[in-house]
Amino acid sequence: MPIEVRNVRTEDEFDRWCDAIDVGFQAPYNRGDGRRRRPRYPDLGRTWSAFDGDDIVGTLVSLPMELTMPGLRRISLDGISAVTVAPTHRRQGVLSRMMAAGLTEAKERGDAVAGLVAAEYPIYGRFGFGPATEAAQWTVDARNLRFRRDLPGRMELVDADTALAEAPALYDRVRAGLPGAVTRERWRWARDTGHDRPEGSPPPKDKLHALCRDEAGQVVGYVEYRFTERWTNQRPNNSIQASNLVALNPLYEARLWKFLTDHDWVTEVVGPDQDRFDPLWRDLLVDRRMAVAGDAWDFLWLRVLDPAAYLSARTYAKADRLVLRIEDKSGFARGDYAIESGADGSGECVPCQDAPDLALPVDVLGSISLGGYSPSRYRALELVEEYTPGAADRLTTMFSTSLAPHSPMIF
Ligand SMILES: CC(C)(COP(=O)(O)OP(=O)(O)OC[C@H]1O[C@@H](n2cnc3c(N)ncnc32)[C@H](O)[C@@H]1OP(=O)(O)O)[C@@H](O)C(=O)NCCC(=O)NCCS
Repeated sequence: MPIEVRNVRTEDEFDRWCDAIDVGFQAPYNRGDGRRRRPRYPDLGRTWSAFDGDDIVGTLVSLPMELTMPGLRRISLDGISAVTVAPTHRRQGVLSRMMAAGLTEAKERGDAVAGLVAAEYPIYGRFGFGPATEAAQWTVDARNLRFRRDLPGRMELVDADTALAEAPALYDRVRAGLPGAVTRERWRWARDTGHDRPEGSPPPKDKLHALCRDEAGQVVGYVEYRFTERWTNQRPNNSIQASNLVALNPLYEARLWKFLTDHDWVTEVVGPDQDRFDPLWRDLLVDRRMAVAGDAWDFLWLRVLDPAAYLSARTYAKADRLVLRIEDKSGFARGDYAIESGADGSGECVPCQDAPDLALPVDVLGSISLGGYSPSRYRALELVEEYTPGAADRLTTMFSTSLAPHSPMIF
């Protein structure tokens, strides 16, 4: 029977679509929970499904999100998530068909870029996505973490209701000032604070929530964490695992880490697995080796759909003009585009007929577009081809940003 790729249309299909996601993500014990998850996906027109007869054998969703660009303009992002194909139907082109349908509709809708977090590295490059930000998980020695200066902010333990009242608004303030950050929907906060949970299950008690306030009492930091209890040779040797950790600036972020490491009994604090690859607070440590990065990974992958709109939405570090030839076998972004930036940092990108200064594949465009990876780097790898000598270095200067982009939350 031919596979049909289309939106989920009915509530019954939606429930089965959720079950298929749970099977695909190897968490079958979550099945039967579709009704509760329905508000997370209000627009069934953005849910993609592959049907083999009545059976749902593939899932994908396009979340309406925003991405903060260098220069802090926010643009709409086609946030791709819940990508699964049934084990009975893998490697038969089911994902390829759902992705083509989803990206075509995103482009028609006017989204200039799509984004996702990849479960496995090799999946998405072929669809034109390139990794644009990196992440790492930091483990610190709680007994020996000392900072070079006093840190601002007053810490306060709060209950889950207060956490839900404060954390989303803080996160939105943070992402407004952070290139690479994307929307975090309220339901994820409700889930993480224990408000949105499977029917009949009691409120979770294992997690603590803490806020950091500035002198005026404004919330400037938030962290949620849990303990792992261990006693070694009659001495406490506990570990803290922090999950959502959000702060308005690196000093308040350092304050959150200090708070966590100040707990008696705790010898080790493990941060979220999507922290900055190169966090600024580490430079405040008396001994930077007390913080060790593990699990460094590519994080936000971007797929440019409309280069003119996308590249016109960011600012540039230097006035220049370059013509880019973008190679894209799916066709969405293919063509020659001139980027012209002014001394004030503004820039415009338009399709053009001029001879190109350099050529690059669309996945590389996604990787360099927020300033996280330099065009010169890909030129050295011969993934960017230069027609005008020095063009890759000039593009690197134009695209460079004062800090690396960072996408702090998974979706
Ligand atoms: C990843 C997944 C969605 C791929 O679905 P699929 O229908 O098998 O993918 P397709 O058949 O359309 O694959 C297209 C191409 O990508 C390749 N590919 C797909 N998934 C891959 C993977 N995990 N690793 C390496 N290559 C992969 C295929 O080999 C195929 O290559 P080809 O065109 O050269 O033959 C599916 O295997 C799955 O559900 N995995 C578990 C859940 C998961 O990881 N989801 C992604 C969450 S971000």
